[in-house]
Amino acid sequence: MALNNTSPTTTVAWQKLEKHFTKLKEVSMQELFAQDPSRTEKMHISWNTFLLDFSKNRITDQTVSLLMELAQALDLKEAISKYFSGDILNVTENRAVLHTALRSSETNILVDGNNVVPQINAVKQKVRLFSEAIISGSSRGYTGKAFTDVVNIGIGGSDLGPDMVVEALQFYKNHLNVHFVSNIDGDHVNEVLKKLNPETTLFVVVSKTFTTQETITNATTIKKWFLQHTSEENIAKHFAAVSTNSEKVTEFGISAENIFPMWDWVGGRFSLWSAVGLSIALAVGFDAFEELLQGAHEMDQHFQTEAFDKNIPVVLAMLSIWYNNFFEAETEAVIPYSQYLKKLAPYLQQAIMESNGKSTDREGKPVNYQTGNVVWGEPGSNSQHAFFQLIHQGTKLIPCDFIGFKESLHQNKEHHDKLMSNFFAQTEALLLGKNQAKVIAESGDNDFLTSFKVFSGNKPTNTLLIEKLTPKSLGSLIAMYEHKIFVQGVVWNIFSYDQFGVEYGKQLANSILEEMNTGQMKPHDSSTTFLLKHFLK
Ligand code: F6P
Repeated sequence: MALNNTSPTTTVAWQKLEKHFTKLKEVSMQELFAQDPSRTEKMHISWNTFLLDFSKNRITDQTVSLLMELAQALDLKEAISKYFSGDILNVTENRAVLHTALRSSETNILVDGNNVVPQINAVKQKVRLFSEAIISGSSRGYTGKAFTDVVNIGIGGSDLGPDMVVEALQFYKNHLNVHFVSNIDGDHVNEVLKKLNPETTLFVVVSKTFTTQETITNATTIKKWFLQHTSEENIAKHFAAVSTNSEKVTEFGISAENIFPMWDWVGGRFSLWSAVGLSIALAVGFDAFEELLQGAHEMDQHFQTEAFDKNIPVVLAMLSIWYNNFFEAETEAVIPYSQYLKKLAPYLQQAIMESNGKSTDREGKPVNYQTGNVVWGEPGSNSQHAFFQLIHQGTKLIPCDFIGFKESLHQNKEHHDKLMSNFFAQTEALLLGKNQAKVIAESGDNDFLTSFKVFSGNKPTNTLLIEKLTPKSLGSLIAMYEHKIFVQGVVWNIFSYDQFGVEYGKQLANSILEEMNTGQMKPHDSSTTFLLKHFLK
């Protein structure tokens, strides 16, 4: 059964939120903190190794209860249960949305009446055996040398998730160098090839469809390069593929035993938990990959069972809706205070914006309210020296998620304390601001510069403080954002799991490529014609 298709703006809860907003929009968080000393006590969630403090938001207890009322009015509870039980929630592609099954402990999960758990376990076992053989050196390259390098060839969901996780878990990595080739820009693949020895490199072609232009072009270029060094029969030792399309993989020349299946009911941008995570298992070992899955599974359970106001993904999603739809915030930032998480924002950009960047509701009608947020970010403290000026003193409201860890992996206390002092100071500064009186008191003078040194404060942040960056906590963190996306899609009454928006540009690119190859220009708008002529000159 599909989700219902109620427009959120027609609910009583939405109307109450609108009224509530007109009162609250002028209220500052400083006042709210002053009025209620127990604010943070109420507005935080402690779960496993996670502590979420959401008290630095422009909300009261009433806002929280109205946001939860909205979630209830839109049958979120029922939607969550449909999500986990394999209902066809991806209606426009006629598919279930079951990436959660890949990390579940259930023994019976049905898709179209078939239990998918045995196939999930079989593929996991295949990933385990394959990755262990490469890591241990029992499986070797065509000249008998152990593998030193792995190249993941994929794009979008077949690249961003594994790339982000391999980067994030660098501390736990083994001796294999793992590279990622994604862009159709030949400079990307050529730069990676420069570093490789064909005798000791394993190539993993990851493409759910195995028709994606970027991936097939890069894989073909790499295969040609490989065959300049050795013969066709060695492809079997050096190339593996992850795909739903075994026919196309075989056509490409990869042997059947090196094909890792995936399934339609796993969306590309949620697929790192499947065999798409092969490069993760190769980089950190299968046991660590299992811990990643376990962390995600525990977040799944939290999301499924916890009351909405104590449910981390639900709270984050509803707060984000509060800013997006009532304060009209256009963007939100994710600022991890960990260099290991430098690829989190690019990963989330696909997960969030490809999912919820939609303007047609579940009935096929245009929505008359804002949907998907623009998400961006960079690790702190680097980002403080880049764009924090605008967050502190610009004209735009940018709610931020601050993610930090109690423990540093290299145990470098001096650095970690300095890093974390920035982490806490920034959210405090964003909350409190600095008024004119304080600026004058500090400088001892009310001069021309005074007004430039004033900070209005009242800028909302969520603080997520996690014990330590481990495969498990990372799994929970990623799953947390996946479920936030789900909740927002349910509330906005859109389909979060298709991506028709990326098709049109691809279609035009194919036609332009044909024009480039044949030299026969077709009619375009005058700007495109002008540019193409300049390019082809
Ligand atoms: O960008 C569109 C998209 O379909 C993504 O959703 C997907 O992750 C990516 O292309 C790659 O697709 P594939 O894994 O089929 O190569």
